[in-house]
Amino acid sequence: SKKAFIFDLDGVIVDTAKYHYKAWKKLANDLGFDFTEEQNELLKGVSRVRSLEILLNIGGVNLPEEEKIKIMQDKNEHYLQYITQMGQDEILEGMHEVLLYLKEQTIPFSLGSASKNARLILNQLELIDLFDAIVDGNDVSKAKPDPEVFLIAAEKLKTTPENCVVIEDAIAGVEAANIAGMVSIGIGDKNTLNEADFNLNSTSELTIEMIKELIKE
Ligand code: BG6
Ligand code: MG
Repeated sequence: SKKAFIFDLDGVIVDTAKYHYKAWKKLANDLGFDFTEEQNELLKGVSRVRSLEILLNIGGVNLPEEEKIKIMQDKNEHYLQYITQMGQDEILEGMHEVLLYLKEQTIPFSLGSASKNARLILNQLELIDLFDAIVDGNDVSKAKPDPEVFLIAAEKLKTTPENCVVIEDAIAGVEAANIAGMVSIGIGDKNTLNEADFNLNSTSELTIEMIKELIKE
């Protein structure tokens, strides 16, 4: 039966990981410890609150709750300085074409992201109007790898999980898709994302040919 697609945002539609990294790194440095790009991998796909917990753990820093809320706000403000400069040129290779093709074929698709900035980012990229549904960090109570975000997306697309194809770059996201009973496509390192049904090295490998195969009924 008819397929539907669910796209993660950060690392799938746009490479915002580098901006998250800059913002978290500044925060870490301000608190007096270093934060490497390798350690940043741990924050991919993870909610803002959980990211802070992981970061503080790395630095061995303990903070009272009010202070955590304050520095999360600071981090986001810093992050938004980069985000508000972003344009369509930062859409990852081939993704705009894929979205336009699905639209043309009237295949429904949704966003399924952990970010609370998702709508702002899609607006910046001028992609927001293409999506049939948007489910983001403001809509869920349980973060990936919980399947909630993708199950809500399927519901909004008026379809069932077995008809959904999820595109993800994070381990937690691939796991969430699998638990939801959806087809998972992992973008990035094959060994890291070894639980995905299909592995691609980068978004440029998500070709129209592959989409055609996936939507065959
Ligand atoms: C995910 C990113 O998509 O969103 C994470 O991969 C990020 O790195 C999370 O922490 C939450 O994003 P935001 O924009 O709400 O801080
Ligand atoms: Mg991601």
